[in-house]
Amino acid sequence: MCGIVGYIGPRQATNVVFKGLKRLEYRGYDSAGIATIQKGQITIRRDEGKLSNLESMLVESPMNGHVAIGHTRWATHGRPSQRNAHPHTDENKIVAVIQNGIVENFISLKNQLIAEGHVFTSDTDTEVIVHLIDKFLHEGNSFVEACRLTFRKIRGANAIVTLNEAEPNKIVAARIGNAGGITIGVGEDEMFLASDMPAILEHTRKMIFMEDGDMVVMTTNGVEFSDLAGEPISKSITEIAWDPVSAEKGKYRHFMQKEIAEQARSLTDTIGTRVDFETGQISLPELNISATAAKNISRIISVACGTSSYACLVGKFMIEQLARIPVEVDYASEFRYRDPVIDNDTVLLAISQSGETADTLQAMNEAKKRGAKLVSIVNVIGSAVQRISDGIILMHTGPEIGVASTKAFTSSLLDQLLFAMKLGQARGTLSNEMSVELAQAILALPDQAGYILNKDENYEEIANVFHDREHFLYLGRGINYPIALEGALKLKEISYIHAEGYPAGEMKHGPIALIDEMMPVVAIVLQDNVYEKMISQIEQVKARSGIVISVCNEGDERIAQLSDYVLSIPKSHQLLMPILATLPLQRLAYQLAVRRGCDVDQPRNLAKSVTVE
Ligand code: AGP
Repeated sequence: MCGIVGYIGPRQATNVVFKGLKRLEYRGYDSAGIATIQKGQITIRRDEGKLSNLESMLVESPMNGHVAIGHTRWATHGRPSQRNAHPHTDENKIVAVIQNGIVENFISLKNQLIAEGHVFTSDTDTEVIVHLIDKFLHEGNSFVEACRLTFRKIRGANAIVTLNEAEPNKIVAARIGNAGGITIGVGEDEMFLASDMPAILEHTRKMIFMEDGDMVVMTTNGVEFSDLAGEPISKSITEIAWDPVSAEKGKYRHFMQKEIAEQARSLTDTIGTRVDFETGQISLPELNISATAAKNISRIISVACGTSSYACLVGKFMIEQLARIPVEVDYASEFRYRDPVIDNDTVLLAISQSGETADTLQAMNEAKKRGAKLVSIVNVIGSAVQRISDGIILMHTGPEIGVASTKAFTSSLLDQLLFAMKLGQARGTLSNEMSVELAQAILALPDQAGYILNKDENYEEIANVFHDREHFLYLGRGINYPIALEGALKLKEISYIHAEGYPAGEMKHGPIALIDEMMPVVAIVLQDNVYEKMISQIEQVKARSGIVISVCNEGDERIAQLSDYVLSIPKSHQLLMPILATLPLQRLAYQLAVRRGCDVDQPRNLAKSVTVE
């Protein structure tokens, strides 16, 4: 999705904004640009392609000014090009605008503005915003009121940031709907603004999160919030614990490599102080579900997208086993259009790393309208998902920058285990003995994760042998079937190899026709309740000259004999082994993508947070 950065203060604004955009590169984009007010005039540099193109333009013709707004564009309307890159200006170049989202009524507005004599120079929906502001300015409104009138006229979910050369001492912005957040950073006699905190974390940790319908006027003296009707709004400042270093790659080649490697730390942070390892008791103070309310939950519907939806599938096993509550899992994009049956005893569990995924937010709104209680497992503090939830369980992994989700996925599995235990303890379906057993397994988890992540296994050899294969099949069963889905998604989204995750029991109903020596099969075969079933699957694959790469428990000679390659993990409780089994699949996908020379952190066509439908 688009990245947004703004600055007003004593420093060279273009430099601050450009550096902020660099930190947002992971979001995925196809063009970039910056506007400033230089010698009293709106001045813009923008280009198609990577930020390096914009950097060359800025070196060639620098821009000086103390206020600037910058944008990395992920095209929705109008192909990636210089003319469609943001910022956009009106024909008189007195206002500049950047935007994230979609102006759903832009065609009617554009036709009306053209009829009134406005001249458009791009194919974007964004451009109607700047012409509307220009129109309202010429009708005698102040800049702030011209913006407010504009924000009320456009439809759709948008984050909009504007400059006016006649008022160089301010930035005006608004958040309408859930098209990606706007966070205000409060500095000493300077102010920052960004679509994501990593862009401005190095300057300040004092953040103000804008909500749907908020408008802000930002100057070096501070910020004034109001709603679109013009009524003042008071907002609180949140002190963010994330340090800028954690948003840096450090010694790693890719953010994804760093985030895979740091899962012993991120799982430790997810556990935090939530588990009493002696009694097994779980505390989730922000969950906001009383013991009585927990007893009255009739059903949980879990919704998410992509990797997070596979986490929901794992959580279903945990919650049904420990809390004995039926769990339905739905893709968020499907849920909202299936006229779901929901009552006041239904809990909707949403999982989202970014907390800004449009489909997930819409599903939550749909469920809320029908009376459900909203619980979310989310990573980004201050995100829309967090703010519209009745109860939350934070992932606490720190910034996840790589487009492919890794540490957030394993933490969302752990958070669901804590959620399941909390509900089970409240409902009396989870015994103290089992609570203690699980707590002890949780206690060992980070160390086991670190052991797996530091093991010198044959990832490079596997990548060298199979990097040119066109298809992979991932097989899992029971609670590890979703891990097969996740392993396949990791591979396809960063290496562009076609990979399919499949329930192993379904092989004989069709996919076995695919088996041959050209398509490696990754099988998750752990010593659990479906171990023997999985062994027969491997045997069926081998009987058809298939290649088997097994994720199995350490020391399992039987699997080692049957497999061509083995990636092993230590044993743990059956409900925790999916977390451990995920790690070798992340490392395998990473190694194959690197061997194929892929852009691991910014895979083609992908965005870190999909804030449009
Ligand atoms: C995961 O590797 C993908 N980048 C994608 O499937 C992602 O999980 C999905 O878009 C949901 O994102 P969220 O967790 O931020 O809502």
